[in-house]
Amino acid sequence: MSIAYYKRFRMEIDLEFVSAPIPLPAGYRWVSWDWSVLEYHAWVKFCCFRTELDARIFPCLGEHDGCIQLMRDIASRRGFVPEATWLIARGDDYVGTVQGVIDYSGMGMIQNLGIVPEVRNLGLGTTLLIQSLNGFRRCGMNRGMLEVTADNIGAVRLYRRLGFRRARTLYRAVDEPK
Ligand SMILES: CC(C)(COP(=O)(O)OP(=O)(O)OC[C@H]1O[C@@H](n2cnc3c(N)ncnc32)[C@H](O)[C@@H]1OP(=O)(O)O)[C@@H](O)C(=O)NCCC(=O)NCCS
Repeated sequence: MSIAYYKRFRMEIDLEFVSAPIPLPAGYRWVSWDWSVLEYHAWVKFCCFRTELDARIFPCLGEHDGCIQLMRDIASRRGFVPEATWLIARGDDYVGTVQGVIDYSGMGMIQNLGIVPEVRNLGLGTTLLIQSLNGFRRCGMNRGMLEVTADNIGAVRLYRRLGFRRARTLYRAVDEPK
């Protein structure tokens, strides 16, 4: 094994400047959080991340069981924020997921924003992120934050477009086969 270091950005936003929630396009609908939808979040997360760089950095994202366990962990945390946790559905399918938690400093922290590959570049990721950030705001939070892999160019661009700015650079060490 060897150790690889992945550069990640912590990005923050003043929630006062986040747009009001945006309606979904025709045919899509919001699904709010309760425990009965945990497996849908886990399945969409798996579909979104399994082929992405983040699944190398966080191996649980590349396995369905790992995504179920991750969802249980997030939803059981004391700082879990159901108001910032959403699915997007289309018919009987689920196509987008995001979760929110309060971090140790009281900021709203976005977890695992994902849109399945088939419906990317339609504005759903932007709409889902705005929906989640408004959930933090309704809960009285003033700032939001997230962490993103620096090489995830599309995600970094989306976050910058919405007003997130880099607050810190971090390096994540990952054991990898030689
Ligand atoms: C990052 C991710 C959530 C973005 O989701 P998305 O639904 O594709 O995001 P959007 O459609 O809102 O924005 C993506 C692009 O589509 C464009 N777009 C938005 N609405 C559009 C529309 N109606 N027509 C055409 N293009 C549109 C946006 O301008 C943006 O373009 P840009 O990247 O050149 O700036 C998605 O790519 C994903 O799930 N990636 C894998 C998981 C991941 O890495 N998540 C982030 C972890 S930090």
